Amino acid sequence: MAEVLDGLSQQQKSVSPKFFYDERGSRLFDEITRLPEYYVTSTELEILREHGAEMASYIGEGAALIELGIGSPEKARRLLDHLPDLGWYVPVDISESALDRATRELRAAYPELEIRPICTDFTRPLALAGLDDVSKRVLFYPGSTIGNLDPEAASAFLARLRHTHLQPGDGLLLGGDLQKDIAVVEAAYDDAAGVTAAFNKNLLLHLNRRFEGDFDPGRFDHVAFYNAELGRIEMHLRSRQDQVVTLGGRSFHFLEGETLHTESSYKYTTKRMQTLAGGAGYCQERFWTDRRRYFGVWYFSAC
Ligand code: AVI
Repeated sequence: MAEVLDGLSQQQKSVSPKFFYDERGSRLFDEITRLPEYYVTSTELEILREHGAEMASYIGEGAALIELGIGSPEKARRLLDHLPDLGWYVPVDISESALDRATRELRAAYPELEIRPICTDFTRPLALAGLDDVSKRVLFYPGSTIGNLDPEAASAFLARLRHTHLQPGDGLLLGGDLQKDIAVVEAAYDDAAGVTAAFNKNLLLHLNRRFEGDFDPGRFDHVAFYNAELGRIEMHLRSRQDQVVTLGGRSFHFLEGETLHTESSYKYTTKRMQTLAGGAGYCQERFWTDRRRYFGVWYFSAC
C-alpha cells in the first residue's frame, strides 16, 4: 500500500501497471490480445509460427525451457511442436489458475513432456533446483512484457536473470515490440471497442477494493499517447473534474485535466534492444521479425 500511496503523492501521479491484473483485468487483457488493433500478440504468434523450428534448434535437445509468465500456452506450443526431446518445460506464473489451465492443456497435447509448473512472482529468484542435469537452460520471455519496465529496470531485471539462473552458453528467447508508425501504436492502446479503456479504468476499481478507496472510474477518461522522446506509449487516466479521492485513509486531490500515469510500454529499435541485453550480459545470436517489422524475437546467449 505504501508504494501506491507514494505514487499518488508525486507531482505526476502514478500507479504500477501490476494493479491492472485482478480477475477482471486479466480477462480484459485476454480480450485485448484478440483485438484487431492490438497487433502485438498476433504478430508475435505469426513469428513463432513461421520460425518456431529454427528457434527450437537454438534451444536444443535435453534443454530446460523456462517460460516467464504464461498468459496462454499458444506461444510455447509453437516451440514445443519442434522439441520432442526437450528435458523440461517450466512455466512460471503468479496466477495459480492460469498456470493450472496451461499445464493441463500442455500435458494433454504433449503427454511425454516433463512439465514442472512454478507458481511464483518471476521478478523474484526462481527455485530451479533439480534443473542442473539439462543440456542448457533457456528462458522464454515473450509478449513484450519487458517493455513495461523502464530501460534501467529492464536491464537490471535481465542482468539478475543472467547472474541468478544462467551459465555461459544458456539462452534467452525474448519477445519485444518494435518502433513503428505512431498511429498504429496509438490505435493498439486506444481501440475502437473501448476494451483498453475498460482495462485502464478497472485499475481504479481494483485499488478501491484493495485499499478501501472511492475512485469513481466515470470521473476519469482513458488516454493513450506515444512519447516519441522516450520511445514509449503511455497510458493515463485523466480527471474529468476537480475532485478529491480517498484511498488507504488518505485524500488525494486531482485537478481537472490532471492525469494518473498507469503504464508505459517501450517500443524498441533492434539496436537499442541489443545494447540493453548486451549491458545485461547477453550476446545476440539471432533475430526474427515479421514482414511489417512490427515485432521482434531475439535469441541471446548468456556470455
Ligand atoms: C502486458 N503488456 C506487454 C501489455 C503492453 O502491450 O504493454 C499491456 C497492455 N496495456 C495495454 N494494452 C496492453
